[in-house]
Order: sequence, then structure tokens, then C-alpha cells
Amino acid sequence: MKKIAVRGGRPLRGNVKISGAKNAAAAILPATILAGGKCVIENVPGISDVTYALRILRSLGAKVRPVGKNTLEIDTAPINDFAVTHELTRHMRASYYFIGALLGRFGQARVAMPGGCNLGVRPIDLHEKAFAALGAEVETEENAIISVKAEKLIGKSIYFDVVSVGATANAMLAAVRAEGRTEIENPAKEPHIVDLANFLNAMGANIRGAGTDIIRVDGVSELHGCTWSVVPDQIEAGTYMVAAAATGGDVMIENVTPKHLEAITAKLRESGAEVEEGDDSVRVIGCERPAKCSVKTMPHPGFPTDMQPQMAVLLSIANGTSYITESIFDNRFRYVDQLARMGAVVKVDGKMAVVEGVENLMGAPVQADDLRAGAAMLIAGLVAHGQTEIDRIEFIERGYEDVVEKLRSLGADIRYIHDKDTAILAS
Ligand code: EPZ
Repeated sequence: MKKIAVRGGRPLRGNVKISGAKNAAAAILPATILAGGKCVIENVPGISDVTYALRILRSLGAKVRPVGKNTLEIDTAPINDFAVTHELTRHMRASYYFIGALLGRFGQARVAMPGGCNLGVRPIDLHEKAFAALGAEVETEENAIISVKAEKLIGKSIYFDVVSVGATANAMLAAVRAEGRTEIENPAKEPHIVDLANFLNAMGANIRGAGTDIIRVDGVSELHGCTWSVVPDQIEAGTYMVAAAATGGDVMIENVTPKHLEAITAKLRESGAEVEEGDDSVRVIGCERPAKCSVKTMPHPGFPTDMQPQMAVLLSIANGTSYITESIFDNRFRYVDQLARMGAVVKVDGKMAVVEGVENLMGAPVQADDLRAGAAMLIAGLVAHGQTEIDRIEFIERGYEDVVEKLRSLGADIRYIHDKDTAILAS
């Protein structure tokens, strides 16, 4: 079994290029089903969640042809099926986007419940509410198959009492070809929601207001293929920003949209780091020792929940006591047990974690419990004295393209190792 070994205590220095956003690609790839023709998608991150999504597209009959390292030509005209099995959906949460896309194209879908990171209960009741509002019959069949079907989808007003990225995106996927206008109220405003809306409009949809408090979708009869470049990944960028600050380094993070990083930038500045914003880059210069600060995760444009574990590592070596409130998920502190093995002092009580800053962390064998917990273990290993070995790195590979190579290029002492402890150079 492959692991990652990190020998910490070295400030990160240099430049790193950010890849396309995992959570944008996760929605855009299924959305190509609505085109019923050829799309060329650029800046697709080379991560396993993309591999899983392409496997599902091919299982439905789509033709997928890589044209270069991060560009795909996807022809969904040949798609002749609307069922996706558990074997294919169990790997990732974003499998649920195939329900909205297939419903929007064929008026029906039978998709097994999604898998994904264990962050507590992750229902899809809001997705189902959106499909039902548009006129679909929604059922959960045996073997946890979500079955949706509609003679005709009719535009309606949909209000989400809980802000949901997935449900907002799925509502757009189902509404773009519905008859009439759909208004999505209290939607998610993440950059990947806006990117999906812009991609659908490039295919001929008529969506306005993505990123604001109300999204209006006027249904159209046909959509067509297009060429699209996926928006940069603000969570990958934020992860490298925190790694630079936590190691007291000086890193230029390129291919980003600084506006998408505002909440992360503000929090890092509060902790004593310098952040210089360019047109499509941010430079992060860490300080001697981070200052304590408190974090509350919120829907965009608030502090992203997907940056919560990474920020906890920076605060675990801060000067003083910090407070982290996780307001989005009900169980996103599982990584704390692993961090404690490295000397961190974190007490979790429900949705709040109290972090007593320590002078430094010590290397230890740890594991990734989910994608962002894995990212946190990487940062902890970069900060700690001695060697840290991270197991279950398949979680990290779900969302971070070439992470070992990128960190090595910033001066990190990091490599893949196998169980028999023979260190192999990062290939
Ligand atoms: C998306 O998950 C992201 N995943 C997550 O990123 C991210 O943490 C999350 O949005 C919040 O930003 C993808 O985009 C593939 P939600 P999603 O619906 O859609 C509750 C990562 O690390 N809820 O916004 O599942 C839900 O339980 C991953 O990249 C319902 O109650 O998140 C949660 O408490 C992790 N019913 C809250 O809403 C529903 O039908 C927000 O969830 C849907 C969600």
C-alpha cells in the first residue's frame, strides 16, 4: 500500500500552479449529458474524482477522448441509458449530479445513492425536493436507487431552507430544459456554482443570477456542445496558502482568482501572514509563529468548510487558544484524533473545536480520514519536526492533482513510500 512520507520543518518557497476546480469539474462533466453533442472541457484536474465521473459517462455510452493532459473531448450524443449502478456511484458524492443531468436530458434517471467523504449525515432530500418541484416523480427504490421521472419538467420557484451546493447545481441541471422559468431562492454562491451556470449558458441555456441570492433559469428546448475551461480550484489554492503560512514560507500561488479566496486571505492576514494579491495569483509570506484567531465555516463567501481542517493545523501551532465552529457539517472534526498523535491539543465539543496552540508538532504515522483531513495531515507533516507517514492517501488523490510533485517543487522533503518502507522518489 502506497503512503506519503514527509520530513517537516522546512519553509515552503517558490511558485505553484493551481489546477481546475474539483467541485466545478464534478458538476460540469455530468452536465455535458445535456448537450447531446460534443464538448471540449479544458483545465480538468487530473484527480480520481474526475476518473470516477468519466467512468460513469462512458458506462452511459458517452465517448470520452483525452486531448492533452488536462483537456477532454466528450461526445454525449451516443448516450442511450439513464441508469447508474452503485458500483459506479459509491466512490464519490458528486455522482448525484448524474440524476439532474439525465433527468434534464431524458426526463428520467435511476442512479444509486452517492458515496463520498464521511462528514456526517449527508442526505439528498433538497435535491429530491427540487426535482419534485419541477414535476418529477421521485422514489427511492431497493438497493438505494434514486429513481426520478417526468413526462414534462415545468419551471417553478424552489426555496432551499438550507444552503446546499449540490442541490443548487442539481436544480439548475434539471431546470435548463424545463418549460418556463425556474427561480432558485437561497442558493449556494460558490465559485463552482457560477462556473456551472456559465458553462450551461455556453451550451445555450438561459441562466441569470448565479452567485447572488436568486438564480433565474428560463428553460430552452435545445442545448449544444461548447468549449469550456474549468475555473481554478479555490480550495486547492487555499490549501497551499495555509501550507505556506504554517511553514513560515514564501510561496507564489498562480492560476487563481483572488476574489474567490477573500475569506481565506482575511483569516491568514488575521493570523499574521502577509498575503499579496495579483491579477491571477496570491503571494503568501508566513510569519514567525501564527497568532491565534477564530474561524466559523459558512457558505460562500464565508470561510469555506473545505478549508476547516487545514486551518486547524495552522492554529494548532499558533500563539494562544483559537476556536473553530463548523456550521456546515455535523461531523467534520474526525481529523483531530490524527492531529493529536502529532502533539496538537484540540478539544471538540459538538460543532466547536478549541485549539490550544503548541510550540511545534512532532512527526508520527497518521492516516487521511477524508479528502480535506488528508490535506490537513500533509500540512501537519510539513510543519512537524521529524518524519510523518500518511496512510490512506487515496483520499488526498481524489482532490489534489500532482500534490507530491507540487510540494516537492516548493522545497518539501516529501515522497511516496510503500509498506515495506523502501522510500521511492515521487514518480
Ligand atoms: C459540496 O458537497 C462539496 N462537494 C463539498 O466538498 C463541500 O464541503 C460542500 O459542498 C459545502 O461547500 C462537491 O461539490 C462534490 P451541501 P454537498 O449540499 O453538495 C446538508 C470537498 O472536500 N444537506 O452544500 O454534499 C448537508 O448535510 C467536499 O471538496 C441536506 O441536508 O454539500 C450539509 O450539512 C467535501 N440535504 C449542508 O446541507 C441535502 O439534500 C451543506 O451540504 C443536501 C445537503
